[in-house]
Amino acid sequence: MLPVSCILKSTVQVRRFVPSDMEDVLAIEQESFREDAWERKVFEGYYHRWRELFLVAKRGRRIAGYMISCGGARDAELASIAVRAKDRRAGVGRALVEFTMAQLTKQRTKSWWLMVEVDNAAAIRFYESYGFARTKRIRRYYGAGRDAWRMRFRLEIKRSGPQQKSNKQSQPK
Ligand SMILES: CC(C)(COP(=O)(O)OP(=O)(O)OC[C@H]1O[C@@H](n2cnc3c(N)ncnc32)[C@H](O)[C@@H]1OP(=O)(O)O)[C@@H](O)C(=O)NCCC(=O)NCCS
Repeated sequence: MLPVSCILKSTVQVRRFVPSDMEDVLAIEQESFREDAWERKVFEGYYHRWRELFLVAKRGRRIAGYMISCGGARDAELASIAVRAKDRRAGVGRALVEFTMAQLTKQRTKSWWLMVEVDNAAAIRFYESYGFARTKRIRRYYGAGRDAWRMRFRLEIKRSGPQQKSNKQSQPK
């Protein structure tokens, strides 16, 4: 039988961000994005405006990742996601996506979209594994020489059942 510490470590729990999570979130942000990391005030802004979908995931006792989505009834944007380097490939990102997807489905959001740097292969694979499809390449979105893909996931297709065209069949333009 596995020791309790191992079972705890392998369990991922998602809940809404609370202000006392801020230092952990900032550390994950800095480790993940370096010079592109958002400042505290950006997170505070999301917390004040969009706290429903500002989530953290705990793996064992630690905050292992966060994800923020925002938007209206029709479209939601996945504004940011990051997982602590040590906790990657352990289902933390998956738990955050699934929690948000359930919430967006409940509120009948039609489309969930995001921007990702074209050379961020890990994130693109991650998003594609859920059915996000590349819809447009935006030149210099992140600055000189740094293009982005706009990616979209159509929740209405997911709701209408497997006989419909899958998100995964969309091709990049
Ligand atoms: C992208 C990121 C959030 C993924 O989080 P994660 O917790 O490691 O992802 P999961 O363990 O839930 O992976 C789910 C699936 O996504 C895919 N995936 C995730 N990371 C991948 C990688 N490095 N290479 C290929 N596929 C990957 C796999 O299909 C994986 O399933 P599997 O492990 O069963 O094969 C994480 O790598 C990260 O924080 N990166 C740095 C920050 C970043 O780039 N954020 C996105 C900015 S747009």
